[in-house]
Amino acid sequence: MIRLEQVTRVYPLGGADVRAIDGISLTIPTGEFVALMGPSGCGKTTLINLIGAIDRPTSGGVWLDEERLDLLSDDRLTRLRRTNIGIVYQFFNLLPTLSASENIGLPLLLYGLPAREIAARVARQLEQVGLAHRAHHWPHELSGGEQQRVAIARAIVAEPRVVLADEPTGNLDSVAGGAVLELLQRLNREGRQTIVLATHSAEAARRAGRIVHLRDGKVEGVERP
Ligand SMILES: Nc1ncnc2c1ncn2[C@@H]1O[C@H](COP(=O)(O)OP(=O)(O)OP(=O)(O)O)[C@@H](O)[C@H]1O
Ligand SMILES: [Mg+2]
Repeated sequence: MIRLEQVTRVYPLGGADVRAIDGISLTIPTGEFVALMGPSGCGKTTLINLIGAIDRPTSGGVWLDEERLDLLSDDRLTRLRRTNIGIVYQFFNLLPTLSASENIGLPLLLYGLPAREIAARVARQLEQVGLAHRAHHWPHELSGGEQQRVAIARAIVAEPRVVLADEPTGNLDSVAGGAVLELLQRLNREGRQTIVLATHSAEAARRAGRIVHLRDGKVEGVERP
């Protein structure tokens, strides 16, 4: 379960501080697929980064199960992120000098798993995202949709409890975007992973079990599609 209590995130900008997140309280039960939806600048990325423990709130608390993330040391957070949280970005963020397989295996390499175990898990993930035939392609030899599916495989290879996706379809056409959303839905249904999808697309958000509408850093409303 993810829990935010009275979370604010203020970016200090001299006299013109930005309250990107302005007092949000939100609970996301384990296994839920929730969409954070709202216009550009409403705070979606900021909130994703707070939930993913990449960033810390200015005030308020963020919990992952019993652990209060905003009070952990950077070291503990790095370790916790590695095993609990997978993140997918709008611009894929694959390493250009690594093949699809190597990109997917990277988190496990950092984790210190033996090569044979990594190869087996990477093969399973490639299968899962429908890209077994692209294992040895470089990122620039893949379509946008394929790159994003590699990025999803990389995000889930360590079997995190939570998958965060920040505009994962923002750079894809509707067919490739649909495939990415279907993949996220399948992970949620079959893997029981908690999914948090940030999007400004109403169509993408409808895939979720719950839509949290954000505006100006606040929760404006909640909807169940
Ligand atoms: N590092 C920063 N320093 C100052 N202000 C920032 C910073 N990052 C974001 N902001 C501001 O915080 C607000 C929320 O930004 P955020 O990136 O979370 O929005 P978003 O909902 O993800 O938008 P988009 O749909 O365009 O990705 C915006 O007004 C933005 O200008
Ligand atoms: Mg954003």
